[in-house]
Amino acid sequence: MSELNPALEHPTYNYKVVRQFTVMTVVWGIVGMLVGVIIAAQLAWPALNFDLPWLHFGRLRPLHTNAVIFAFGGSALFGTSYYVVQRTCQVRLAFEKLAAFTFWGWQLVIVSAAITLPLGLTSSKEYAELEWPIDILIAVVWVSYAIVFFGTVMRRKMGHIYVANWFYGAFIVAVAVLHIINSLAIPVSLTKSYSIYAGTVDAMVQWWYGHNAVGFFLTAGFLGMMYYFVPKQAERPVYSYRLSIVHFWALVAVYIWAGPHHLHYTALPDWAQSLGMVMSVILLAPSWGGMINGMMTLSGAWDKLRTDPILRFLVVSLSFYGMSTFEGPMMSIKTVNALSHYTDWTIGHVHSGALGWVAMISIGATYHLIPILFGKERMYSTALINTHFWMSTIGTVLYIASMWVNGIMQGLMWRAYNQDGTLTYTFAESVMASYPGYVVRALGGTIFFLGMLIMAYNMYMTTRRDVEPKAVPATAGAA
Ligand code: HEM
Ligand code: HEM
Repeated sequence: MSELNPALEHPTYNYKVVRQFTVMTVVWGIVGMLVGVIIAAQLAWPALNFDLPWLHFGRLRPLHTNAVIFAFGGSALFGTSYYVVQRTCQVRLAFEKLAAFTFWGWQLVIVSAAITLPLGLTSSKEYAELEWPIDILIAVVWVSYAIVFFGTVMRRKMGHIYVANWFYGAFIVAVAVLHIINSLAIPVSLTKSYSIYAGTVDAMVQWWYGHNAVGFFLTAGFLGMMYYFVPKQAERPVYSYRLSIVHFWALVAVYIWAGPHHLHYTALPDWAQSLGMVMSVILLAPSWGGMINGMMTLSGAWDKLRTDPILRFLVVSLSFYGMSTFEGPMMSIKTVNALSHYTDWTIGHVHSGALGWVAMISIGATYHLIPILFGKERMYSTALINTHFWMSTIGTVLYIASMWVNGIMQGLMWRAYNQDGTLTYTFAESVMASYPGYVVRALGGTIFFLGMLIMAYNMYMTTRRDVEPKAVPATAGAA
């Protein structure tokens, strides 16, 4: 990309690797969400499995989760963290060759996942499905990422470390620890391995990993993004620097204990389940600390929402963050979980976090970055960003509202008894009753996905000559 136009290179910062990750954020967003739309359609119309093993729901589902979380979300996190750490430390990226390796290494991980998962090669651990050779590659790329990121922080020209880097740093360290411990396995062939853990211990390690993947990959990293791009786009300082530090420490201290809420009413000891529940309820406070800090940053700048669709993406993502981190603690309460577990309510909760928070904040940050990275004054079309914003919002609302209705209905149908103690409804009846919800979810997902195509078009047009170029400053500006 930068080879085509050497003028794109910033004199102080390394924008090339940021640009590569940013473009791939859009590309993998489209791919991952397309697979999401396909599996959503399969749940409404199962004939779309076409009786082909590699198109089967069971194989495409992990392809979807890996593509959206690690390819789309991961590229957004790599790209923005490399940008933010340079701007806020006012220094060029350390170990640039290693940074280039993290880009190509991460793309190799993604392509390997896209080949092996449809072939049915899986460790069968959710969000950690990839087999051991790919796991080793992930560990190598991740350690390289840590060296580049912390190497840059250590070379900083500023005295203090801006809070966004705290969140990115916690995300990088925690994901390395989680990935390495949860993936420990004994290989029996190139494509098959067995976890070193067994039984309940395996379940607990898996959900310690799984929940903290949510806490650090899908939350802490994106809070890092929030702490840079919300103040930047609103042109206001962070509302409270003190609050950001307090909720940072509270968040990292509490998240790590909450994993057992995924294992309520299982063979896990009861005390561990209760501990997970209590810690999850406490987690509401640090989560809302971040949400409030982001929202209040707009104090005195709310009028900008009328004209700036990028800011709308960022603010609405914070509302969904607040909503999903209220819903999560409620679902952690054992009596509520007795109703919600195994139902579509969980899927609705996941996507209010995934589409509303993770995807929308990434989209907002990406729109902020594209003109800067391609040396342009602005995006090609603000009207198209606005259209995208409404499509994302409407798509997300259709998705989660239909899953709430389905989930609560399923939970109530499954627990309904007749006076003689027999079940009122068969399982098949609850599936049939869920059909309208599945159609609405597929519609909402399709609308969200089409918005991503509009974004790709807008990005492509911005890189062309018809958007006026921006003069590149000769020296590093302030963050
Ligand atoms: C067009 C957008 C999307 C559509 C249509 C979609 C659709 C789906 C469907 C149909 C499932 C399977 C549900 C089930 O098994 O009952 C699913 C699962 C999942 N999706 Fe998405 N998705 C989309 C975007 C995203 C994004 C952007 C993310 C993350 C950033 C995401 C994360 C997940 C996760 C984590 C699961 C597994 C949930 C669980 O096991 O409880 N999705 N998605
Ligand atoms: C205070 C914050 C949160 C708490 C306490 C929480 C709690 C929960 C609970 C209780 C479940 C259901 C477990 C089950 O019944 O199996 C769940 C599922 C899930 N949540 Fe959250 N949640 C929080 C925030 C979030 C956010 C912000 C996201 C996404 C960005 C998210 C993503 C997920 C995913 C992916 C699952 C499904 C895991 C699976 O079964 O595959 N959560 N969460």
